[in-house]
Amino acid sequence: MVTVTFLTLPLREKLVVEVPENTRVTLLNLMKRYNLPKQCVCGEGKCGACAVKVAPMRQSARMVRLSDMERRELFQAGKLSLEESESQDLKDIPPRWRLACQYVVADEPVLVAF
Ligand code: FES
Repeated sequence: MVTVTFLTLPLREKLVVEVPENTRVTLLNLMKRYNLPKQCVCGEGKCGACAVKVAPMRQSARMVRLSDMERRELFQAGKLSLEESESQDLKDIPPRWRLACQYVVADEPVLVAF
């Protein structure tokens, strides 16, 4: 099981969701399943409207690699700097902003805020 913790203003308390490993569910699908309000337009990584802040819950974060599409959309939405948007590998620290429709919950517990 992987833990995804949501923090969002409409919630009075954090929502902790357990996701079975290898489920391959996106954050946006989880948010819909638990009725967490977040505007999304395309659901395909093309509009940037679903950007959320994601932080690993572990002490040491792993490397992350964003797809070209996610990097471009996050940059256009003002969530990545020019330097971050041009870097193939983002350094040891994953970007704070991710597209909920593109972020597939993996084997790492995360905190999601929006
Ligand atoms: S809903 Fe459009 S980029 Fe995620």
